[in-house]
Amino acid sequence: MTGFTPTPGFYAARLARPGAVLAPMAGYSDAPMRQLAAEQGALWTVSEMISARGLMGGGDTEKLNLGRPYPGEQERVVQLFGAESDVLAGAVARAEAWFQPAAIDLNMGCPVPKIRGKGGACLLQTPEVAYELVSAMRQATRLDVSAKIRLGWDHDRSVEVAQGLEAAGAALITVHGRTSAQRYTGQADWEAIARVAASVRVPVVGSGDILTPAQARERQRMGVAAVMIGRGSVGNPWIFRALVSGQDDLPDAYTRARTALRHAELQTRFYDDDTGRLTLRPLRKVLPQYLPDYPDLRDDLVQVVTVEDVRRVLQPLLDGAADGPDAGSDRAAITVTPNGYTVSHS
Ligand SMILES: Cc1cc2nc3c(=O)[nH]c(=O)nc-3n(C[C@H](O)[C@H](O)[C@H](O)COP(=O)(O)O)c2cc1C
Repeated sequence: MTGFTPTPGFYAARLARPGAVLAPMAGYSDAPMRQLAAEQGALWTVSEMISARGLMGGGDTEKLNLGRPYPGEQERVVQLFGAESDVLAGAVARAEAWFQPAAIDLNMGCPVPKIRGKGGACLLQTPEVAYELVSAMRQATRLDVSAKIRLGWDHDRSVEVAQGLEAAGAALITVHGRTSAQRYTGQADWEAIARVAASVRVPVVGSGDILTPAQARERQRMGVAAVMIGRGSVGNPWIFRALVSGQDDLPDAYTRARTALRHAELQTRFYDDDTGRLTLRPLRKVLPQYLPDYPDLRDDLVQVVTVEDVRRVLQPLLDGAADGPDAGSDRAAITVTPNGYTVSHS
């Protein structure tokens, strides 16, 4: 379908380059978001988590939107969620046949078990089960198998878990620097991530609270093989470009509006819903994030139904005629700071 033939050793090959990884995010890292991130140079992207049981249950097909690649998609990791070796091994084979993944990742971080069984972050309470899962997954494929963990269930046992996963054959480990009990509160503990990176031979990718290219570079110096960016890339695929090219400025408002519109177009094309009624709804939370310096557009962007609605709301920016911090021909450079966006007229 894509003509992409991934080989074992995918992670090592990609890590030879500069850049950052797009995080798996249920409800966000779907095909259109992955495409925009990949175009801006993301090292690889990760699908939203897919239930292994769901995949094996018979109801799903290769058309399953969670796994289906966009035409020509490459360098995309499929993440599976589950807790039973046989089901996960079957799901690996099915995902490989249907979705052309570059590698397969096991979710050990989701704090809310979605399906019967103790998958996701629950595996941090019984890591020996996770080691068996990784081992079974490896036997089902020649692709790299990785795992994405949190620091622990309610206390940090990440070094022990990472070493066990390495021994089970994980080719790479991603660490989100919070416990499951923390959910998304507090700060990600990058010292703990660094300890994991120093304690295993396989590459470790660090995840948590990176909002700017400068923060990403700072974290990259903590011994990790790469950093992963989730929330900080919503409405900002250029964060990936910055980490490849060193060009940190956000594009002007025209380009950001064009990209928001393109995101909407990719969305309707991928989900193939002529009315747009269902497909654009999930984008309502994303579109304003392309234009945080235009808060007046927010109310309209969160109500869009069709691509035409998006175009109508963004038209002043697409015409270059909006009143705003960077309107007109004298467009200002916008620099992202840890606190948000700073506009610097140059
Ligand atoms: C809305 C949302 C959905 C997420 N879904 C997943 C998921 O499906 N699988 C997973 O391993 N992590 C998931 N995560 C965790 C992220 O991959 C990432 O580790 C976390 O958000 C911290 O990184 P960030 O601060 O860059 O967002 C999700 C996070 C968010 C905010």
